[in-house]
Amino acid sequence: MTPLLAVRELAVTYPNGIVGCTGVSFDVHPGEIVGVVGESGSGKSSLLNAIALAVSPSHGSAVFQSRCRGPQALFALNAQDRRWLRHREIGLVHQNPRTALNFDLSAGANVAEALLMAEWRHYGRIRSRVAELFARVELDLGRMDDLPSRFSGGMQQRVQLAKALANGPTLLLLDEPTGGLDVSIQARLLDLIRELSRDLGTAMLLVSHDLEVVRLLARRTLVMQQGRVVEIGLTDQILEDPQESYSQLLVHSMLT
Ligand SMILES: Nc1ncnc2c1ncn2[C@@H]1O[C@H](COP(=O)(O)OP(=O)(O)O)[C@@H](O)[C@H]1O
Ligand SMILES: [Mg+2]
Repeated sequence: MTPLLAVRELAVTYPNGIVGCTGVSFDVHPGEIVGVVGESGSGKSSLLNAIALAVSPSHGSAVFQSRCRGPQALFALNAQDRRWLRHREIGLVHQNPRTALNFDLSAGANVAEALLMAEWRHYGRIRSRVAELFARVELDLGRMDDLPSRFSGGMQQRVQLAKALANGPTLLLLDEPTGGLDVSIQARLLDLIRELSRDLGTAMLLVSHDLEVVRLLARRTLVMQQGRVVEIGLTDQILEDPQESYSQLLVHSMLT
């Protein structure tokens, strides 16, 4: 099967010379959830932001199979084509909802913004699509016109999910989506993310410093350390029989 995303030898180097990640290669298949774990500073966000076309890589390639446009060399696209893909086929969920949402607009208007970016123009149709998305992420329809600041952290992440899913992306990139949340809220959000992937067939690249989060959702996992992938394989196998000393350390710290 052709991978939905094929990343080869990706490196991100920041202007100050710091290496975010280097030599990263992996595939994501259609509908698959792939986990990315590693301690803070191991390069997870650098990797994700490069694929989200938010930072420019210093090396490497990524080929994405666009539903509408066929194979796309992500890092060779012009600005217009990048925007087109980002608004329609690749969704992004940040750890901090303030990075992704406009807190001066209602929750519904935030989701509607994603539709406007993809050239939805009819007010009634936008309103009903936003309502459909609110239902999909289990948000109360009666709260569409409330400001995000009046929502709990877990609900703000649901608004972000609704926005990221608005145009039916085939790939969703999630950077520590349950990072700042209480354990019980985190568990409910992870359940929802799993259901969304299953029901909508959305492939996901799920970044977390927490192996437990990845264990719950991801079939395959990349383990990162100091900007490099040190282990890649089935999540269950990494948990049961980690090959690399760093993965052993991560698994051990999770079990104790
Ligand atoms: N915008 C940036 N400018 C300079 N260095 C950065 C920037 N973002 C991340 N880094 C550095 O890149 C490395 C990897 O960071 P990051 O990708 O954020 O890791 P993680 O998401 O795993 O915590 C770290 O050394 C970090 O300090
Ligand atoms: Mg990060």
